[in-house]
Amino acid sequence: MIQLGLVDGSLIDELMELTAQSIGRLEIHEHFNVVKEIGRGKYGKVLLVTHRFRGTPMALKVMPKASTKLQGFLREYCISLHLSCHPCIVGLFGIAFQSHEHYCFAQELVIGRDLFAVIQPKVGIPESSVKRCVLQIASALEFIHSHGLVHRDVKPENILLLDNRCCQVKLADFGLAQKRGTMIRFITGTLPYMSPELCTVALTEGQKEVSAPPISVEPSLDTWAFGVVIFCILTGYFPWECCLDSDEFYQEFVDWCRTERTPHNEEEEEVPPLWKRFTPEAMEMFGKLLAPDVEKRCAVGEVRAYVEKDWLREGSGIHPSEERVGASGEKPGSAEGEAAPDAQ
Ligand SMILES: Nc1ncnc2c1ncn2[C@@H]1O[C@H](COP(=O)(O)OP(=O)(O)OP(=O)(O)O)[C@@H](O)[C@H]1O
Ligand SMILES: [Mg+2]
Repeated sequence: MIQLGLVDGSLIDELMELTAQSIGRLEIHEHFNVVKEIGRGKYGKVLLVTHRFRGTPMALKVMPKASTKLQGFLREYCISLHLSCHPCIVGLFGIAFQSHEHYCFAQELVIGRDLFAVIQPKVGIPESSVKRCVLQIASALEFIHSHGLVHRDVKPENILLLDNRCCQVKLADFGLAQKRGTMIRFITGTLPYMSPELCTVALTEGQKEVSAPPISVEPSLDTWAFGVVIFCILTGYFPWECCLDSDEFYQEFVDWCRTERTPHNEEEEEVPPLWKRFTPEAMEMFGKLLAPDVEKRCAVGEVRAYVEKDWLREGSGIHPSEERVGASGEKPGSAEGEAAPDAQ
């Protein structure tokens, strides 16, 4: 892998152009034995393959040409390759090619499940595992941001686990990653992980254009998504469905953020019901990661200041009768922000 030492992401364009000139043409079955499909997302599928001659196991990301633009494929591959040297980002082999019907690139095979698969609905995962995961993902995101790039799709399905206790995790899927400063005019549909500023440019059903001004892709988009992921894996709930005025769970949280706090009124009562299980220290962290005002939102690395503190109140356990059900009331993490079934 060539280390270009990007600071502003601009060399990604150069890497894309060079890759476009050299990308080979081959059929998957000529060079790989396909063992099974190990994952599927909105844009493609991931196959467990072994190299026909060397036997090396790999995770081959396969995207149909019919629904994938060459530029989009090249961007995902080049950004992934550029960042793949980080220990908490999925590794790449430097193998990209096109077959008759697909664009493909080979990734390191991460043998565990993804984080979505281990979240127990309405429970989450143990706080100690959450903290191990948070430290590693924060480090991966800081690395991405330091290269002038933004991941833009931080969610449990894109966090791959080498073990069930989150001792080693890897951030994957750079399909939406972009250079910082890229302008977004609109997006279709919303996810619970999308920040309020991103939701302002979401097209609602039947809408053809948005009236809000375009927004700039900034690391703060990842900070927000990271905050939502931490909530999801600590609780097994989404905090809200989307960051729009129409979402009462989101509005309650915004009201809490905007309440002026003094040492005297820091009472449990003012915390929205879904958030009562958290300690004041955890709430302070969420207040920074999920600051509705972009200017006030912290950088991802600030979570480090909180990992030594308790995040869940003692005995907060799960009291279903006391809790109002979260935005979806179901397991967090499904692709469209809809409820995934409780059963795994
Ligand atoms: N290197 C890998 N090793 C093992 N499993 C993987 C690997 N890469 C991806 N997967 C699995 O495949 C799924 C889909 O992969 P990926 O997220 O890259 O696809 P996508 O189509 O871009 O998804 P999305 O819908 O999130 O955009 C992941 O959620 C994960 O479960
Ligand atoms: Mg994905």
